[in-house]
Amino acid sequence: MNMLVKLGVVLMSTSIFVGCCGENSKQTECSKEQAVLETIMTRRSVRDYKAEPVCREQMAKIIECGIYAPSAMNMQPWAVRVVDAPDFIEGVTAIALEQMPQLKEQEGFRNFFRNASTVAFIACPEESYSGEYDCGLLSENMMLAAWSMGIGSCCLGSVVPVMNSEAAKPYLERLNLPEDYKLMVGIAFGYPAGDVPTAPQRDASKAFYIE
Ligand SMILES: Cc1cc2nc3c(=O)[nH]c(=O)nc-3n(C[C@H](O)[C@H](O)[C@H](O)COP(=O)(O)O)c2cc1C
Repeated sequence: MNMLVKLGVVLMSTSIFVGCCGENSKQTECSKEQAVLETIMTRRSVRDYKAEPVCREQMAKIIECGIYAPSAMNMQPWAVRVVDAPDFIEGVTAIALEQMPQLKEQEGFRNFFRNASTVAFIACPEESYSGEYDCGLLSENMMLAAWSMGIGSCCLGSVVPVMNSEAAKPYLERLNLPEDYKLMVGIAFGYPAGDVPTAPQRDASKAFYIE
């Protein structure tokens, strides 16, 4: 993170977050709240990573945080598969390049997963009450947990059509998803290389009170 971005984050933390502490809040509760808010507000989609995969102990914590997400009736309608095998990442990258040769033109292109060496594949039942929603909650829990440990992430919807293509069938099979599950999204995880991007603009008018 460059100095300007860091300064912005710190100023934002003090101006937005301190105001949330009611008079009765205990100091410890307040700083816990600030840590959560800061993680949420500073998480960004990271699209360039150092070459090493995320340490498996850290990934275990990230997965645990994922499966502690809420799900309708606690059905936990998800399947999570984490891959850090180089032959898998390189194999899918080769297939993606066949289908989209222009990918190679991306600056610093190393692989199809935004250069991450660890990728989580999230799947949900083809038919379910709230599987897609629940998988979204699980995914966000994983990404926020990662960011709180300094690990970047990026949701990758673009991996789904490639993984579902005929050429990638052996890789999809390797994920060993339960029958009747469909791949929802991939999530790149890794140690950020370079500056973390600034937040794309949000449209605050999409959420409001009805009096
Ligand atoms: C379901 C989903 C699919 C996404 N797919 C991609 C993708 O294929 N490639 C990519 O670079 N970013 C992808 N993103 C990341 C979004 O572009 C990013 O979240 C958005 O621009 C907001 O930026 P931020 O995450 O830094 O706040 C995806 C995000 C979501 C939630």
